[in-house]
Amino acid sequence: MNHPQWVKHEELKQWVEEVAALTKPDKIEWSDGTKEEHDRLCQELVDAGTFIKLNEEKRPGSFACFSDPSDVARVEDRTYVCTKNPEDAGPTNNWIEPEEIKKTLNGLYDGCMKGRTMYVIPFSMGPIGSDIAHIGVEITDSAYVVINMGIMTRMGKKVMDVLGADGEYVKCLHSIGAPLAEGQKDVPWPCNPDTKYIVHFPEERSIMSYGSGYGGNALLGKKCFALRIASNMAREEGWLAEHMLILGVESPEKKKSYVAGAFPSACGKTNFAMLIPPKEMEGWKVTTIGDDIAWIKKDKDGNLRAINPEAGYFGVAPGTNYKTNPNAMESIKSNTIFTNCAITEDGDVWWEQMTDEVPENLTDWKGNKYDPSSGAPAAHPNARFTAPAAQCPSIDPVWEDPKGVKIDAFLFGGRRASGVPLVYEAADWNNGVYLAATMGSEMTAAAFGKLGQVRRDPFAMLPFIGYHYGEYFEHWLEIGRSLPNAPKIFSVNWFRTDENGKFIWPGFGENMRVLKWVVERAQGTASAVEGPLGNMPRYEDIDWRGLEDFTEEQFNDLMAVDREIWKQEVLGHEDLFSKLYDRLPKEFLFMRELLKAKLWRSPEKWTLK
Ligand code: GTP
Ligand code: SPV
Ligand code: MN
Repeated sequence: MNHPQWVKHEELKQWVEEVAALTKPDKIEWSDGTKEEHDRLCQELVDAGTFIKLNEEKRPGSFACFSDPSDVARVEDRTYVCTKNPEDAGPTNNWIEPEEIKKTLNGLYDGCMKGRTMYVIPFSMGPIGSDIAHIGVEITDSAYVVINMGIMTRMGKKVMDVLGADGEYVKCLHSIGAPLAEGQKDVPWPCNPDTKYIVHFPEERSIMSYGSGYGGNALLGKKCFALRIASNMAREEGWLAEHMLILGVESPEKKKSYVAGAFPSACGKTNFAMLIPPKEMEGWKVTTIGDDIAWIKKDKDGNLRAINPEAGYFGVAPGTNYKTNPNAMESIKSNTIFTNCAITEDGDVWWEQMTDEVPENLTDWKGNKYDPSSGAPAAHPNARFTAPAAQCPSIDPVWEDPKGVKIDAFLFGGRRASGVPLVYEAADWNNGVYLAATMGSEMTAAAFGKLGQVRRDPFAMLPFIGYHYGEYFEHWLEIGRSLPNAPKIFSVNWFRTDENGKFIWPGFGENMRVLKWVVERAQGTASAVEGPLGNMPRYEDIDWRGLEDFTEEQFNDLMAVDREIWKQEVLGHEDLFSKLYDRLPKEFLFMRELLKAKLWRSPEKWTLK
């Protein structure tokens, strides 16, 4: 078999040949990561009817596409962590014996690329050549995957140059599972509507994905590698791989802090990472390092330093507009792929809440003329844009610094209509780990599941942890034991609603008021009172310039702790703990008792006043 002369890695070539022998593609292409390749593949997808070229004046270099309606989000119930011992995958992951699932998958892969091109994509998670970066190679039969991986990661020949003749890499095998018979006409979004598997082998650090072409199911560098496999690497090597945004905050005195935040899927990471402070809060500035994944390592001074292993945003489109997230709107002005958004009659994209008025003559995400009276949305709720990170106006100048940025605070936040206050601070690292371990959130359209149902989502990692949660908590406690100056840990909730189901907190840019208190707490300059859950700001501890009509009473409602709701909440903790009991850190049982004691002693509705 002929491989490009810039591929020097014999073992990799051998793997590629083995996969080709099994999957039987028509041809093999190594991705070199050039602009020519990107443009050529985009054109091929236009010719195939998958991509729609958007209006070059309105959205230069950009394309839209619609997925198959059966293939619109991550499939958590088809996602597996396959360790030799089922206990090691933990009770929150699906498990199948590795040899058994390989037999099943190899059966499915047999001939699965017939009639298609097999692409080999070398990619780096993290700046190429940096000490903290790790390399993967994805084999895929989807040109859409190649194009998206080209935006989301550093990809191509330059990665092979670093990998050399014998470097280590994570094997990522992907097929859409839709072979073409001789003369069979292709469909715009080929996938396998009946059979999907997203399978991880942490012990061999490899991934096998079959049947889906969408997002985290198919762009294997993202959730599969940078979270599920990397969380295993991190535990073994003493670092952290987290579902977190990373942002910088600059004060009027030009003091810079960095904050990392874990919110579950579609719960506001992208928005928060690109936040623009209210203009009245003069001198405050937020910069963006990453919007989805953080790799965090201890440096020799005992600081935690974080990098964004990605190079692009795969962001939720609906809800994004010039009021909620102007930086995202600027980031997607050009060179962007839009998946499952609606298309306007002049060849641009649209989604719910992009503008107040719904444009006329939209094509909806199913490719039909949109009927606003149908009640159905024009864009799928999990419609996404893929855009280069460098296009974000708020991108931090050091976002690609391989040393990473020093983290001063961690935020953990879910989507909770009731019970959980706007913000509170954990008493110390251990209590912070407990807070993060017990967080819950309502399910969103980012995954198939029961929309709106509250589930425990420890560290916002439930769909992404690659091993046993009990050990993961222990790993976090262990990291904290050796930090001379551990970052402070906070809980936030932008999503509390009133009796009419309306959000009480205005959110988005106004979240700067909470962020300011957080960084000032981290610096030791802001006050707080001790509530039943942790330390809380009083009304006077928050900067209200520009939001003076938000009353103290409203704020106190947002911060109230309802004893009955929290009794239920603590029972939820016990459910989780009983699932994890044999590997749960002992400290947790005592922290739970302490929390109970505080709650049982507090009034039915605890408020700041
Ligand atoms: P993933 O990419 O799926 O991991 O999600 P994410 O956490 O980056 O989610 P994103 O920032 O894209 O948030 C998506 C949804 O949250 C959109 O519907 C937003 O409108 C909504 N959202 C974000 N921030 C806020 C906020 O401060 N208040 C309210 N009410 N909604 C918000
Ligand atoms: C998420 O669901 O948390 C995402 C999108 O960030 S995906 O890459 O599809 O997992
Ligand atoms: Mn995510």
